[in-house]
Amino acid sequence: MKSLFRLVYAAIAAMVACCAVAAPVHGSGTFTAGDKTFLLNGTPFIVKAAEVHYPRIPQPYWEHRIKMCKSLGMNTLCLYVFWNIHEPKEGQFDFSGNNDIAAFCRLAQKHGMYVIVRPGPYVCAEWEMGGLPWWLLKKKDIRLRERDPYFMERVKIFEQKVGEQLAPLTIANGGPIIMMQVENEYGSYGEDKQYVGEIRNTLRDVYGKDLTLFQCDWSSNFHLNGLDDLVWTMNFGTGSNIDEQFARLKSMRPSSPLMCSEFWSGWFDKWGARHETRPAADMVDGIDQMLQRGISFSLYMTHGGTSFGHWAGANSPGFAPDVTSYDYDAPINEQGAPTEKFWLLRNTLQKYSKSKLPAVPKAPMGTISFPGVTLTRAITLDALVDTTVHSRDVKCFEDLDMGWGTAIYSTIMPALGEGAMLTVNEPHDYVQAYVNGTRVGSIDRVLGERTLALPAVNRGDTLTLVVEAMGRINFGRAIKDYKGITQDVTVTCELDGNEAVINLKDWTISTIPDGYDHLSTKPFVTTLPQSGPGLYVGKFNLKKAGDTFINLQHWGKGQLFVNGHALGRFWSIGPQQTLYCPGCWLNKGENEIMVYDVVGPAKAEVWGQDKPELDLLQLPKSAKHNAPGNRPDLNSATPVLVATPALAGWQTFGFPAAATGRYLAIEFTGSDAVTLSELYALDARGKRLSRENWVAHYADSELLAGNHTLDKAIDLQESTHWCTEPGSPAPHLIVIDMGEKTSVAGIDYLPGKSLTAPGMRIFVY
Ligand code: GLA
Repeated sequence: MKSLFRLVYAAIAAMVACCAVAAPVHGSGTFTAGDKTFLLNGTPFIVKAAEVHYPRIPQPYWEHRIKMCKSLGMNTLCLYVFWNIHEPKEGQFDFSGNNDIAAFCRLAQKHGMYVIVRPGPYVCAEWEMGGLPWWLLKKKDIRLRERDPYFMERVKIFEQKVGEQLAPLTIANGGPIIMMQVENEYGSYGEDKQYVGEIRNTLRDVYGKDLTLFQCDWSSNFHLNGLDDLVWTMNFGTGSNIDEQFARLKSMRPSSPLMCSEFWSGWFDKWGARHETRPAADMVDGIDQMLQRGISFSLYMTHGGTSFGHWAGANSPGFAPDVTSYDYDAPINEQGAPTEKFWLLRNTLQKYSKSKLPAVPKAPMGTISFPGVTLTRAITLDALVDTTVHSRDVKCFEDLDMGWGTAIYSTIMPALGEGAMLTVNEPHDYVQAYVNGTRVGSIDRVLGERTLALPAVNRGDTLTLVVEAMGRINFGRAIKDYKGITQDVTVTCELDGNEAVINLKDWTISTIPDGYDHLSTKPFVTTLPQSGPGLYVGKFNLKKAGDTFINLQHWGKGQLFVNGHALGRFWSIGPQQTLYCPGCWLNKGENEIMVYDVVGPAKAEVWGQDKPELDLLQLPKSAKHNAPGNRPDLNSATPVLVATPALAGWQTFGFPAAATGRYLAIEFTGSDAVTLSELYALDARGKRLSRENWVAHYADSELLAGNHTLDKAIDLQESTHWCTEPGSPAPHLIVIDMGEKTSVAGIDYLPGKSLTAPGMRIFVY
């Protein structure tokens, strides 16, 4: 009897608990696009959304961050769904713990916040492969983000699974979700209304016809894929002219509600480049202007957080892997604390709020530091190997069934004299070469390297290539980013007085997956002193747990784990030198720290500091593209075109005749201050040529502060630009290396913001 009572009681308690969580704060309602405004339950509503990403915040801190956004004056949270964290292996779904998106939405609702969901399938977001799972690449001919049958089949299954979590939480069902995004900035990828239409239909099938759907793009390209029955929103950043950004939308759809679905508060950082910041005043001014005009917005990011583990992606063209911190120079910093931007923005948002904004919540934990800890136990890479295969040709990670980590490729060499050149096609991403165990150099994809000069080797010597992968590219067509060695390895040498190319075969390939579950199971084989590549483990004691920033500036390149939590990638080149360690993952008393380093430390020591170090570059060479050897002598060359561009906007310049060469150079004349947002080369039909292999080769002047180096002119981002250093005199010269001889018949050109328009002399050589 007693046990029956207990059962009934437990059932009632469970029902009460379940109702308490699921009970709608807002009640069942509607959210629609009305005449020039959104309508919430039929009443005009301005969306003030804070973009936050639940996997970038430790779950115990979710509620604090939500309350921070609310106290800032936001009424909505905007979130991406990252397919690859929810379906790590094909068909295996995970919506638990830090992945429990429904719990996050319910927490938002508990605090009276609405939610906008952006379920992809592609999201960009400086996240590994833009959120797509790596295992899709096992199908070699897959067409990502297109109507490829396998891709679409997997998308539908994934969206269905997300729907099982979120469909009960739409506003029509009494939940907080008011709107959902279809795909993400498809105009930066292609033109395919049918594909975008299929994604829309998939979401309609899952959520029904009542949920408002929208698609976001840039003002320059939103019309390319705009579907008639979706709301259209614009993405642009701090410092933009708000009226210009909406002008085209207003003319095409005069009665559309206006929304900036990504107003970029700051920007993301890449390994080897300076930390990015954007002025607080510009951001606040932009929001103020939008609210004056009744324009809705989502502030991307309001709180960026951290790309823990191996989840940071990489930008393209070129290969520019993102750092672990996703601080983004946002109003709420990586640790969840308010910044100067927060307070300024809060004042502005208070102006537009009828009631007094809620108090700013206290941080869940304090900040701590801890002194140097020496990691005394170490284990070499060889001892960390998971599987080994023998293969005539090299294999990429995907063919080895490994998503992330390191692969070790070894083969026996023929005799080679001094000066032979090793070429890795293609090195994804960081290759260290060894002959008979002695390191002979590295090939770094970030620097556009593929080759390495070998020392003389004897027949029978062993060549070993240790290839560590970074995040997969998350932007542009290059998202199909295989890891490891993707094609082949050759040696160019002299044989009997002639140049010969030897394609190296017969490889032994070993894998080291990067997960804690794999690395922590290996027995330790060495103790200090040790300084080579490997896994290093130590313990430290804390009197009290708290948030801290673990300094790794003496280490080489790899990943950090604390108490089994993967905190992210580090790389000595910076700019990020500390990794955020949330206090909720630390213990009062003993803690375990584990560093996986493919290069090896200068000193096997870490310490915890109370402030991050996000802006310390330790580069072997300058971030500027001004190597004197790269400056061409164009004095006697004839330009293919001399042009006088307009001050602003996209412009096309056709050449009188196509010109062929590997380098595209522009000399800017008549103006000291020059800016350039984007540059494309065109083929004879006026089509933009691929910039996949383009590298910023030379610029006589670049402004390092604010990251206005030449690569910004070919990074697919209209919101970033190259600009000359103040005070450096005209003429200015830039050179792009197109990677191979190319026939160029014209250029597409978008200047940055500038007061004067320079003259242009264009060369192809
Ligand atoms: C675009 C994408 C976002 C993000 C930002 C840059 O707007 O939609 O996911 O990548 O760029 O941070």
